[in-house]
Amino acid sequence: MDTVDYSEHVVTPNPGVVEGLDHWQSLPIKQQPHWPDAAAAAAVSAELSTVPPLVFAGEVDMLRERLARVARGESFLLQGGDCAETFVGATADQIRNRVKTILQMAVVLTYGASLPIVKMGRMAGQFAKPRSNDDETRDGVTLPAYRGDIVNGFDFTEDSRTPDPARMLRGYHTAASTLNLIRAFTQGGFADLRMVHSWNKGFAENPANARYEGLAREIDRAVKFMEAAGADFDELKRVEFYASHEGLLMEYERALTRIDSRTGLPYVTSGHFLWIGERTRDVDGAHVDFFSRVRNPIGVKLGPSSTAETVKELSDLLDPDREPGRLTFITRMGAGDVRDKLPPLLKASQELGITPLWVTDPMHGNGITTKTGYKTRRFDDVVDEVKGFFEAHREVGTHPGGIHVELTGDDVTECLGGSQKIDELGLEPRYESLCDPRLNHQQSLELAFLVAEELSHS
Ligand code: PEP
Ligand code: CO
Repeated sequence: MDTVDYSEHVVTPNPGVVEGLDHWQSLPIKQQPHWPDAAAAAAVSAELSTVPPLVFAGEVDMLRERLARVARGESFLLQGGDCAETFVGATADQIRNRVKTILQMAVVLTYGASLPIVKMGRMAGQFAKPRSNDDETRDGVTLPAYRGDIVNGFDFTEDSRTPDPARMLRGYHTAASTLNLIRAFTQGGFADLRMVHSWNKGFAENPANARYEGLAREIDRAVKFMEAAGADFDELKRVEFYASHEGLLMEYERALTRIDSRTGLPYVTSGHFLWIGERTRDVDGAHVDFFSRVRNPIGVKLGPSSTAETVKELSDLLDPDREPGRLTFITRMGAGDVRDKLPPLLKASQELGITPLWVTDPMHGNGITTKTGYKTRRFDDVVDEVKGFFEAHREVGTHPGGIHVELTGDDVTECLGGSQKIDELGLEPRYESLCDPRLNHQQSLELAFLVAEELSHS
């Protein structure tokens, strides 16, 4: 594994010197909380601008190189984690289970694609949520909508729903301890390929997963062959694991932006990779302007209203230099739309001569609500959107670069279907998400096997 020379990257606070970095403040901005006490919010931002960075510029640069490889078709991205991380959910067990699930999926995908997999969590900072409405009304009582633990509480009381800037500090510290554990797990032996593979064997031995047995057996033979041949290199024992979240809460992201002493350029140090959501990607809005000025690799969600023009405008703003690895389009069209709506966007990128990284988010276009009132998704729709994504790329001749999924390592019951055949009544026992429904551990592994089959054909 390549290593980063930290001595070359001393990130300093006080980035006000970079011209234009704060231009976003003069632009229209969406999805920000109304802090009752603006001075208190400013004080927290000031404090956050002095805390140590969570990630280093050198790691961020390394990730950009990794993503450039993905965009060239030499690698594949797996990005996954909660819709909304919570403070109480940042326990050792839950973090371990999520990391474990992503590592297990990555082993299956590595085999299916015969390519390295870039592993990235929607983790260690995924605390801010965009909402369709500013308020929520229950039984005649109207309160501010829940905007994620970094803004307010989920409980439906006035006290809990009032935005509290002190939560930004707790968000930072929770992200720091989560990232610390992720680094420990992925560098300290837990990520050893042979161990991860042994967990996968448990999945494939379950009779419900019999259809994946063939692929599981092939992987087993490959691992046994490596062992017999005495392979014992570093990459078997440690993995690079990157942290990502939606860059939404501007006071937080701006306060954690630092200048890299080596290049003099600004980096958001709250995570390696930040994406701009479907609701905040306006080309003349604050989010696109701010993230266009920082060096991190940036993602943008593209929903079904996106056009060739959207692709061009966002590429010109966020990646004017056409730098490989800089820009990722995360498409979330819905299973019914992906085959019609994605190809024109891919063709537009070809005609423009750009090679952004194309990733499928098969979750956010496939939400449904059951008669019993659960927000859920059908596993089959998720799989269908992934298949449509691969078909669209095959049709146009572009590279399907990765998948972005909402998942947890726990045995929750939030999405319908999969080999456990979760039905509407089956959602009740463990529906735990505060936001969107996540694939559980089994459903995540099943998806990895299905994507691996697609990759082995593409
Ligand atoms: C999300 O990724 O949780 C999300 C809100 O997605 P989108 O912006 O695509 O709706
Ligand atoms: Co979500």
